[in-house]
Amino acid sequence: MIKYGVVGTGYFGAELARALTTNEGAEITVVYDPENAIAIGEELGARVASSLDELVSSADVDCIIVATPNNLHKEPVIKAAQNGKHVFCEKPIALSYQDCREMVDTCKKCGVTFMAGHIMNFFNGVHHAKELINDGVIGDILYCHTARNGWEEEQETISWKKIREKSGGHLYHHIHELDCVQFLMGGMPETVTMTGGNVAHKGENFGDEDDMIFVNMEFSGKRFALLEWGSAYRWGEHYVLIQGTKGAIKIDMFNCRGTLKVNGEETYFLVHETQEEDDDRTRIYHSTEMDGAIAYGKPGKRTPMWLSSIIAKEMQYLHGIMEGKTVSEEFIKLLTGEAALEAIATADACTLSINEDRKVKLSEIVK
Ligand SMILES: NC(=O)c1ccc[n+]([C@@H]2O[C@H](COP(=O)([O-])OP(=O)(O)OC[C@H]3O[C@@H](n4cnc5c(N)ncnc54)[C@H](O)[C@@H]3O)[C@@H](O)[C@H]2O)c1
Repeated sequence: MIKYGVVGTGYFGAELARALTTNEGAEITVVYDPENAIAIGEELGARVASSLDELVSSADVDCIIVATPNNLHKEPVIKAAQNGKHVFCEKPIALSYQDCREMVDTCKKCGVTFMAGHIMNFFNGVHHAKELINDGVIGDILYCHTARNGWEEEQETISWKKIREKSGGHLYHHIHELDCVQFLMGGMPETVTMTGGNVAHKGENFGDEDDMIFVNMEFSGKRFALLEWGSAYRWGEHYVLIQGTKGAIKIDMFNCRGTLKVNGEETYFLVHETQEEDDDRTRIYHSTEMDGAIAYGKPGKRTPMWLSSIIAKEMQYLHGIMEGKTVSEEFIKLLTGEAALEAIATADACTLSINEDRKVKLSEIVK
C-alpha cells in the first residue's frame, strides 16, 4: 500500500486525491487544508491534520500531493522532502527561479521523487505529436506558436488565480504551453523577449495580472517560438502549432482536434482519450461555462470530463513510480523537477524582459 497525504484540498487537490484512490494499492491517509479539508477527509476516509508539520511528519504518509495556491508551494515541498516523503507538486512549481532551484535541490539532496503537475505531458495529442516528431514525420522543428486566449468579463469576486502575487499571472499560472514548447524544442531558448500589459481589465472587478502577453523565444540553430496568453481577446483560441521542415502539427484545444499536415494532406488524431472527451472540451469553449479566457475551478467544483480523465492518467503514472516502475525516458526531467525549473527560468527571463524593456538571455537567469 502506498500512502498519500494531500496539502490543499480545493478544486484540484480534491480531484487529484479522488483519482489516486482509484488505483489499487493507493490510499489517502492524511489531508491538510485550513479551510476545505473536512469534507474530502470524510469522503476519502482520511485523517484531517491540524497543521502542515503534522502532515509532513506523519509516519503513515509516503508521498505528498501539494495543491495549494501557487505562491504557497515552497514550504510544503521542502518540508515534505526533509521528512523523506516523495512529492507531487502542482504547477507552476514556484513563482521564481530561486525558489524553484531550492525546491528541486532539496528534493534531490533528500533523495525523493519530485514530480511536477505539468499535465499537458499526459495529453494523448501531445504524446502523439512527440512520437510523430521523433519519427521524423514533420522533419526538423523550425517554429512553435501557442495561444491561450479569451475574454474575461467583470467578476463578482476575485480569485487568487487573478492576483499576480499569488498566481504569477497568465505566464506562470498557465505555464503548460511554455513547458510544452520547451519539451518539443528539447530545452530552454537562448533568449526571450516579452511584451504586453493590462490593456482592458483594470479596476475592482478584475485582478491585477496583465491581460495580453506575447513571448518571443529564440532557440539555438535559428528556431523560434511565439507564445501568447491573456483575457483581452474577444476571439478565443487555445492551441499549440508546430511547424517543421516537412510538415506541421496542430494540437487544438478550442476546437478540440489534433491535425497532422504533410504534403498538403491532413490526418486527424485525438487530443484527449476519446472523441467524447474532445467534443466535450469543444462544447465548453463554445459555451457560457467559462470564467473568462478559461474555465477556472474553485473549491467544491468538479473537473470536466477531459480533465478528470487526464488527472487519472497523471495520478496512475505517479502511483506506478511510487510502486517502483521505471521512469520513462520522456519523463525523466518531469520526475526530478528539472522540467519545472527550466520552465520557471524562462518565465523569469520573460518577466525581466518586460520589466526592463529588452531582450533577455537565459544565461542571465540560470547561472
Ligand atoms: N494542472 C492543472 O491543469 C491545474 C488546474 C487547476 C489548478 N491547478 C493548480 O493546483 C493548485 C491549486 O489550485 P486549485 O484550483 O485547487 O485552487 P483552489 O483555490 O480551489 O484550492 C486551493 C486550496 O488550498 C487551500 N490552502 C490555502 N492556503 C493553504 C495552506 N497554507 N496550506 C494548505 N492549504 C491551503 C485553500 O483553502 C484551498 O482549499 C494551484 O497550484 C493551481 O495552479 C492545476
